[in-house]
Amino acid sequence: MGSIDFGFARGESILITGAGSGIGRATALHAAAMGLSVSAWDLNPVGLDETITLLEPSGIQVHRWVADVSDDDAVEAGIADAGAALGPIRLLHNNAGPASSADLPFDRAVEICVGSVRRVTDAWARTTPGDGAAMVATTSVAGNLIGTGSAWYSASKAAIMGYVRHLAAYRAGEFRSNGVAPGMTDTPRLAGFRESDTGQQVLARIPLQRMASADDIAYATLFLLSPAASYINGVFLPVDGGWMVTQ
Ligand SMILES: NC(=O)c1ccc[n+]([C@@H]2O[C@H](COP(=O)([O-])OP(=O)(O)OC[C@H]3O[C@@H](n4cnc5c(N)ncnc54)[C@H](O)[C@@H]3O)[C@@H](O)[C@H]2O)c1
Repeated sequence: MGSIDFGFARGESILITGAGSGIGRATALHAAAMGLSVSAWDLNPVGLDETITLLEPSGIQVHRWVADVSDDDAVEAGIADAGAALGPIRLLHNNAGPASSADLPFDRAVEICVGSVRRVTDAWARTTPGDGAAMVATTSVAGNLIGTGSAWYSASKAAIMGYVRHLAAYRAGEFRSNGVAPGMTDTPRLAGFRESDTGQQVLARIPLQRMASADDIAYATLFLLSPAASYINGVFLPVDGGWMVTQ
């Protein structure tokens, strides 16, 4: 694909959680290609360093923050550190979250998934937004449109979208809020899925006959964050190759 520019202003910055892999990394790389400075967050320092290395050729300003987004103090400190490094950050991609296969107790998992989106959004909103500010959360078709085997994953993703709708209705004076809902996306956490029996069954139902790439999800996210989407607020955008249409 050639270069795409959704009309971001020069000097604009984006904060991305879960930027050390998959969808968050792809958003970071495409944001940098569009000229945005990037505050990249992840709890995995190794993955985060790989992303930072990949960002280097773009020549944009990069801020690195190793943190678990379920930790209040780490998030508050990260917002302060990112602001000191990059100045006001008007764009937020709330993307980090555990894999649905993670062995987590239900209550704790919901607290991690939904609480982290609330925590990062509140800390960010207190310090940085302003004209043109926008937040996108990575939700999922799971929970919002279909049930999946992981009870906490379905419940958490649906709840995150409920929170996004609340923000869209009650905080629109500060920032726009939208949800991007990936279908099956080819990231490290789904390694081997395509080749599995379940993977083949799912693929057979996807009209576009492939999994999403992390780039597909990054483009949808950056569009919703951009000035090109300035009248879009509170939407749930499935990026699933038409999978849900066939359910
Ligand atoms: N891959 C898919 O098919 C798919 C489908 C629907 C939704 N999603 C969602 O997309 C988002 C990104 O997933 P991905 O597929 O890119 O996975 P990934 O495993 O490739 O990347 C996730 C990154 O988030 C980080 N992370 C996880 N928990 C964190 C925490 N508490 N604090 C900070 N960083 C944390 C991980 O270290 C990792 O680097 C997740 O919210 C996931 O639920 C993925």
